[in-house]
Amino acid sequence: MTATHAAGRKLKDAIFDANQACNEAIKIHGKDKVTNATIGVVLNEDGKLATLNTVEKVFREMEMSELVSYAPISGLPDYLDAVIDLTFADNKPEAYFGAIATAGGTGAIHHAIANYAERGDAVLTSDWRWGTYDIICNETGKRLETFKLFDDALDFNINDFAVKVDALLKKQKSLLVIINSPAHNPTGYALSDDEWDKVIAVLNAQVSSGKKISLLVDIAYIDFAGEKNSTRAFMQKFSNLPEDFFVMISFSMSKSYTFYGQRTGALIGISASEKIIDEFKDVSKYSCRATWSNINRGAQALLVKLNADKDIAAHYEWERSELYHMVQRRADVFVREAKECGLRIVPYKGGFFIAIPAENPAAVCQKLHDDLVFAVPLKLGIRVAACSTSFEKMHGLAEKIYRAMK
Ligand SMILES: Cc1ncc(COP(=O)(O)O)c(C=O)c1O
Repeated sequence: MTATHAAGRKLKDAIFDANQACNEAIKIHGKDKVTNATIGVVLNEDGKLATLNTVEKVFREMEMSELVSYAPISGLPDYLDAVIDLTFADNKPEAYFGAIATAGGTGAIHHAIANYAERGDAVLTSDWRWGTYDIICNETGKRLETFKLFDDALDFNINDFAVKVDALLKKQKSLLVIINSPAHNPTGYALSDDEWDKVIAVLNAQVSSGKKISLLVDIAYIDFAGEKNSTRAFMQKFSNLPEDFFVMISFSMSKSYTFYGQRTGALIGISASEKIIDEFKDVSKYSCRATWSNINRGAQALLVKLNADKDIAAHYEWERSELYHMVQRRADVFVREAKECGLRIVPYKGGFFIAIPAENPAAVCQKLHDDLVFAVPLKLGIRVAACSTSFEKMHGLAEKIYRAMK
């Protein structure tokens, strides 16, 4: 009964499948014996969902009417101001900004793809990537093409990036590029200062030869990547770009506020032209109306409240940085042990996940079940969730993966 363009669409969810297999094993062997490295949210060392006390306190003190009322389609104005402050911290580029409230970071990515890539055109991102980019492209009549994130030495592959940008712009007049950095999902990679300069130079060269470029930076995990201003320093590079080079940043409350299911995020536009920002706000608002109308008012109001009170904001930041350090300590164990046992991983710099390149990821994950270890098989390798695997269970995990691969 579906329209022809929707026929056959079905989500394949490797994460869900891996998690289900894990839950079966837990039923048989008990929680303590099983390592569940599949879950993409922060779990405490006791395996329970980590939440932030400051966020909970502010949330519970909110008026019912504030929680359940409609919000403006574009979002609460104070929320949008707070989002811009939090996104850039001390790294605001010299430019005009606009922001629009979206249903999580996913909603922001949706709007960027819907409005900044031509129907039938390709959108470019890296081969290691979050699979949802593909789904949004398909749903909106675009297609996703990829460049190799790493070269043979596991360095950022600027050459392949430049080659793919050039090849696509031989066929199309404009291009949307998605870069998920820092704390890339699934590798934990972050572009260095120098790599950002090279990426911007490649895109600038295309703009100089008459092409239109939009760049979407997905920062969903930025607060799990390191110190606030150093992880955001690259944003200053978006100062005074040419008018035909439009930059967007997708902001999400999911990980930074442990507010995953409250579905609150934003898309921020950055341009040297005020006109382009006005256009961005108009088309994005239109897309909001056409998809979810308006988003969770309570979550927006919560962010405003959290951000407005200096003491609360400072306490929130401290609590969140404790979570960041908890995840980082687990990842450090894995990275160190991988080195010791000779397991080759892609360069991890921070964030929820670590990735291990593999020729047959599904077979390796299957073999790991013998050790009651559950990880996610992706196309290019295996994803291990440092966000949800306890410090204790991280010990010995690299070695188990190494043996399973052998
Ligand atoms: C790479 C990446 N970007 C964006 C998101 C957006 O998440 P949300 O829609 O919950 O904000 C996720 C969530 O898993 C992600 O992994």
